This record gives sequence, C-alpha cells and structure tokens, in this order.
Amino acid sequence: MEKIENIRLNENGDALILLDQTRLPGEIRYLVIESREQLFEAITKLRVRGAPAIGIAAAYGYYLCALRDKDQEDFFRRMDDAERYLASARPTAVNLTWALARMRAALKRNALKPRDEIVALLKEEATAIHREDIEANKRISEYGMSVLSPGMGVLTHCNAGPLATSRYGTALGPILLAHEQGVELHVFADETRPLLQGARLTAFELKNAGVDVTLICDNMAGEVMKEGKVQAVFVGCDRAARNGDAANKIGTSSLAVLAKYYGVPFYMLMPLSTVDMNTASGRDIKIEQRDPEEVTALIFRERMAPDGVKVYNPAFDVVEHELITAIITEEGVITEPFEENFTKAFERKKERTEKTDA
Ligand code: MRU
Repeated sequence: MEKIENIRLNENGDALILLDQTRLPGEIRYLVIESREQLFEAITKLRVRGAPAIGIAAAYGYYLCALRDKDQEDFFRRMDDAERYLASARPTAVNLTWALARMRAALKRNALKPRDEIVALLKEEATAIHREDIEANKRISEYGMSVLSPGMGVLTHCNAGPLATSRYGTALGPILLAHEQGVELHVFADETRPLLQGARLTAFELKNAGVDVTLICDNMAGEVMKEGKVQAVFVGCDRAARNGDAANKIGTSSLAVLAKYYGVPFYMLMPLSTVDMNTASGRDIKIEQRDPEEVTALIFRERMAPDGVKVYNPAFDVVEHELITAIITEEGVITEPFEENFTKAFERKKERTEKTDA
C-alpha cells in the first residue's frame, strides 16, 4: 500500500514534519513543527488528526520539547507542563494522553541518566510508538479482512485511513488490503459534516488507491442501507470505554442505530491504544465541542446561516456497546462481553510483545 508520509522527524531529528490535512485533497503541503505551540495549533486545527496520528505526533512533540530544553533547572517540571499543554489540545481521542503518558513514563524511568541520554531515549520511545502503530494497523487490516467478502458494500464515516494513523489505517486498512489482494469491495464514504473528512480524505485515499468509492452526504446513509447496498459498516474510534461503548466522529452513533434497524453488521476498528480501561462507559467520555464557525461558515464561500444563530457542534458521539457487532483490534475480533475480552486482548498483546522482545 502506497503511503503519503504524514508524520516524520526531519533528517536532523530536531523538527517534526507533518502533512497538513486541512489542505487536502487540493494540495500536498508539509508543515515544519519546531515548538509545542505549533504542534498544539496543528492538533486543534486538525492539520494532524485521527486518534493514532495525534498520539504519534504528540509523542514526537514531547521528545522535541526535551531536545530543545537547554536549561538544567526544573527540567522535569517543564516536561510535565509540556505534557499537560499538549494533552489539552483535544479531549476525546485517548491516544493523545496515552502516548504522552508513555513518554512521561520513559522520562521517569531514565530520570537519573545524563540529559543527552534521556533525550535519545525519548526519541526512541516516540519512534517505538510510531512503529508499533504501523504493526497494529497491519494486524487490524488482516483481522478486518476476515469479516469481508468479495463484492460487499461497506459504508464508512469520517476518515480512519492511513492519514489518520501511521500507515494502512484502521477502518480503511482491511479495504485497502483487500484491494491490494485483488478483492473488490464497493465503499460508500459519508462526506462527514461539518469538516468533510470523508469527502476530503477518505474519498481521496480510496480513489488514489483505485478502490471503488462512492461519496454520499451524511443524510443518505439510511437510504443506501435500505436499498441493500451496504453489507457492513466499518468505522474507526477515538476512545472505547471498558464496557465497549465507543466514541467516534459525530454521526457514528446514528449510523449504528440505522445499521441495527437494517440488519447491517456494525464494526469498529481500533488499536488497543484507543481502548481506555480507565473509562467505565461512554457516559464518562468527554466529547470535544468545537467552534460554531465550522458549522456556519467554514466550508462555504459565503456564510450559510444567520448571524448569531445558536450552534451545537460536538465533534464526536458515543456508540452504545449493544449496537456494536464487534471491535476489531490488533489482537483479533472482540465481541461481548467487552470488558472481559478487552482484558484478554491486552494480556495476549503483552505476551506477544514480551516474546518478540526476548
Ligand atoms: O476530528 P477527527 O477528524 O480527528 O476525527 C477522527 C475520527 O473520528 C476517526 O474515526 C478516529 O480518530 C479514528 S482514526 C483511525
């Protein structure tokens, strides 16, 4: 699978190069990120977006903060500040806080080493987070393929493709892998209002790969299901609670209800880094509220809503676990009871990683 490199360090390892996803599909433009403020801006403005991608970017950002900190005094306090600051960029995708917590743990483990060694180890940790996401996405793609069959219609929402991750993608991974192996599917991509990640990014990625993709407006999903054109829904996830409730782009939960009504299996695909065992249920997931301008003006040439109109703009919603047919992770296809089966999946991952490391 060909991949535009969306996140990487520059050759000197002292800046982060990010593909600006807000410019797609019209323009491939890379940003050079040198400060935590630039990274914060890139995450909040969705220049880098998708749960795994923001986690990876934040991990590199944390390393850059350490690299660029030349003061001996109060280094650990400043790193804690940097972690809090970056973590506050977006609240819903757990991968952001998960990756930063992993970076902090690496810092604390090596706290007594000389500064340049600490910095080198942080670079290694960020690179490991990136590499492990590639591996997880590859495995998710393989497991995801097991529920697909040739000629199926698959509906997806938002963008959970290579751009949203490190490579391959979660929801789009199995579709791209199937295509690579000559298995053709028909994909319906919801445009995904208000920011059109489906139209701008999913349609772009699938079309470039040669996958048969049809773009639809969000309010057409029910109709294509009713017409029998969809045999599976594949979406990504920003945070799954331990009971299996799972938050994803706004509109996902109504898709799950539609899928239930029309008898279409509903799959959520995610790495285990998106499963938050510290969150009991969907009620405990903080949903990001975004700028009203995204709804009233951002994608239009002219403003399309009256000045001062009240706007509600939640970026995500939660799918109740009863509506999820299965959650597909790098440790296999997980079904109810989710808490028990997540725990087993984390154990399998631990065993597998220990074996690989040995
Ligand atoms: O607001 P976004 O574009 O970051 O929302 C992204 C999604 O909802 C994705 O489906 C999710 O992060 C999974 S990406 C593999």
